[in-house]
Amino acid sequence: MSRKQIYEIGEVPPIGHVPSQMYAQVIRAERFGEPKRAFKVEKVDVPELRPDEALVHVMAAGINFNNVWAALGSPVNVIAARQKAKSDMADFHIGGSDASGIVYAVGRDVKNVKVGDRVVIHCGTWDRDCPAVRAGEDPMYDPSFKIWGYETNWGSFAQFTRVQAHQCMPKAKHLTWEEAAAPTLVGATAYRMLMGWAPHTVRPNDVVLIWGASGGLGSMAIQIVKAEGGIPVGVVGDDRKIDFCMKLGAKGCVNRKKFNHWGMMPHWKDTEAYNKWVAGCRAFGKAIWDIVGERRNPRIVFEHPGEDTVPTSIFVCDTGGMVVICAGTTGYNAVVDLRYLWMRQKRFQGSHFANDEQSYAFNQLVIEGKIDPCLAKTYRFEEIPETHQALYENRAPEGKMVALVGAPKPGLKDIDL
Ligand SMILES: NC(=O)c1ccc[n+]([C@@H]2O[C@H](COP(=O)([O-])OP(=O)(O)OC[C@H]3O[C@@H](n4cnc5c(N)ncnc54)[C@H](OP(=O)(O)O)[C@@H]3O)[C@@H](O)[C@H]2O)c1
Repeated sequence: MSRKQIYEIGEVPPIGHVPSQMYAQVIRAERFGEPKRAFKVEKVDVPELRPDEALVHVMAAGINFNNVWAALGSPVNVIAARQKAKSDMADFHIGGSDASGIVYAVGRDVKNVKVGDRVVIHCGTWDRDCPAVRAGEDPMYDPSFKIWGYETNWGSFAQFTRVQAHQCMPKAKHLTWEEAAAPTLVGATAYRMLMGWAPHTVRPNDVVLIWGASGGLGSMAIQIVKAEGGIPVGVVGDDRKIDFCMKLGAKGCVNRKKFNHWGMMPHWKDTEAYNKWVAGCRAFGKAIWDIVGERRNPRIVFEHPGEDTVPTSIFVCDTGGMVVICAGTTGYNAVVDLRYLWMRQKRFQGSHFANDEQSYAFNQLVIEGKIDPCLAKTYRFEEIPETHQALYENRAPEGKMVALVGAPKPGLKDIDL
């Protein structure tokens, strides 16, 4: 194949040939607003590599909610934030925090991957020279930690993405490019929540309550709990989602719409309202017992809705158990009746993405075929703005949306080069 200065979308350059330019879905400050207008296809220069980085030709890119926020320019203008920190002076943002692809170039210090490797990319980045990282501490606690393709530039919505080499993990051979690009961000996040907070890691026969069970995080949580021998009990907002969760391994699901005690709990001094709230919690807890088949409370509650659900999560969590939370989708004011927290010695634990060890452990479950990547639908590169618009308007399909970038068509597991 001839060597060009730019290739078309769906065209794979000869292995290791890096053109000078590429197509990317670009967000600029002057276009901030609804995703359908914020993204535009532009030609941009392929970025230079630092010594610890790899350049990956993107075959397929997974869609996540974070780049809805990038498109809106709110709550953070990610372009201005990087310029202020002097970490990247580019006046545009190329998002995308999930990908499958092929390594096309590596920096001089890179040892874990080589040109031609088929990889998936996890989205955790940090500065390898930071003292805490050098000392072997969890890089998730380091101030340099950033999500690739949201907080950093040069994400997967382009023909080439620039990543730190440790982000590259082996691609599961049995998955297509688009399936492989689907699960890593949500899966590794769920893995840290469920397996990263000892002694509250999933043990055989543990009951685990999973909010938003048919969503991105929830669908991965069900499968991780199942793989570890636990009993996943899901919560959904519609009975039509139950079948999807059961097929992934849920023991059963509670429909949260059958209850109405959600939101911040009433003040304990308002006895009537408080008693009504407790009755709602008890009824919800009984629905969990009915699914489990005995009076056993969840040892772990997998939280992300936040304000609407945290008071109930703390209430139903078992004595000595843990509520672990990675988001506040419905709001950030989590009010807790402290009596349940201290008397029953429960733990309320924050969690955010994952380190290398946890990302690789999740990827191993994918490689072993224990995780269905839950690909909902495959889109064209040009449809990346529309996929984010669907998330923004809450009309995205169940499971993950993925866009093809370099892959010439859906259904391919590899490509001859
Ligand atoms: N910190 C991190 O590292 C990290 C990583 C990934 C995601 N996140 C965040 O986690 C959140 C969820 O992500 P996702 O990918 O799982 O999103 P998602 O696929 O949209 O799923 C969210 C689920 O939440 C449920 N939900 C909506 N409103 C609710 C309410 N009022 N009460 C209870 N449940 C409600 C919905 O299920 P039902 O309507 O069926 O109940 C929905 O399926 C987002 O805010 C995302 O940004 C954080």
